[in-house]
Amino acid sequence: MSSIPIITSASSVKPLEATVAKKVLVAITGIVLFGFVLIHMVGNIQLYQGPEKLNHYAELLQSMKPVLWTFRIVLLAAVGVHALFAILLWLRNRSARPVAYESQRFVSATLTSRTMIWSGPLIGLFVVYHILHFTTGTFPPPHFNSHNVYNNVVYAFQVPGVSIAYIIAMVALGFHLYHGGVSLFQTLGLRTPHDEKPLKLVLWVITTIIVVVNISFPLAVLTGLVGLK
Ligand code: HEM
Repeated sequence: MSSIPIITSASSVKPLEATVAKKVLVAITGIVLFGFVLIHMVGNIQLYQGPEKLNHYAELLQSMKPVLWTFRIVLLAAVGVHALFAILLWLRNRSARPVAYESQRFVSATLTSRTMIWSGPLIGLFVVYHILHFTTGTFPPPHFNSHNVYNNVVYAFQVPGVSIAYIIAMVALGFHLYHGGVSLFQTLGLRTPHDEKPLKLVLWVITTIIVVVNISFPLAVLTGLVGLK
């Protein structure tokens, strides 16, 4: 009986395991961040119910300091791990092909997958600006008042440049969430050829709802549907 040569060695398995571990960490932190974006969007819908509702919701969150800070620390850790390992994986992929293709044909890569590496940092920049804008008031909207989240949002989106920047960020977010969602199902071994189509459809619907609802806030203010109260 001829013996089958073993072509994998400990040294070649380890990098593979490390890559899989990184992918799983990016996937799990991605689920946490996806969940946050969804919950945050649902909370923000209270903008349409008027200042009392939205401001009361914001005050309630602010009053639960230990919960709020636990939540913030988890979120910050998730963002850090997600960004770090996603960048490391991207660098590894790039160095695996030291000579660039003469003509890039993107045979199987979709538009969204090619945009991950810029949509990710763009969303990161957006979140930094967003927190300095609405939470800390470092780059405040006009008449910033930490006890009046409703008016802060309205004052902010009355500036067309701010609204446009938010809309662009939400489109980038949509691309990122959709492709990230598809990838994480693959990483976690939950994507089979059989359910690929329904999975993509569900992700597309959820992502589109998130983008459309989030974009509706600046549009509602710009069109006067939601105003100062
Ligand atoms: C147009 C859509 C959005 C609106 C109107 C909005 C509005 C707000 C407001 C008013 C706050 C401050 C709340 C407070 O101080 O009580 C806030 C905080 C925050 N938002 Fe958004 N947001 C939007 C989209 C997003 C998106 C897409 C993300 C993430 C990708 C995000 C991430 C955050 C974070 C991390 C905070 C800080 C939460 C904390 O205080 O710990 N927001 N947002």
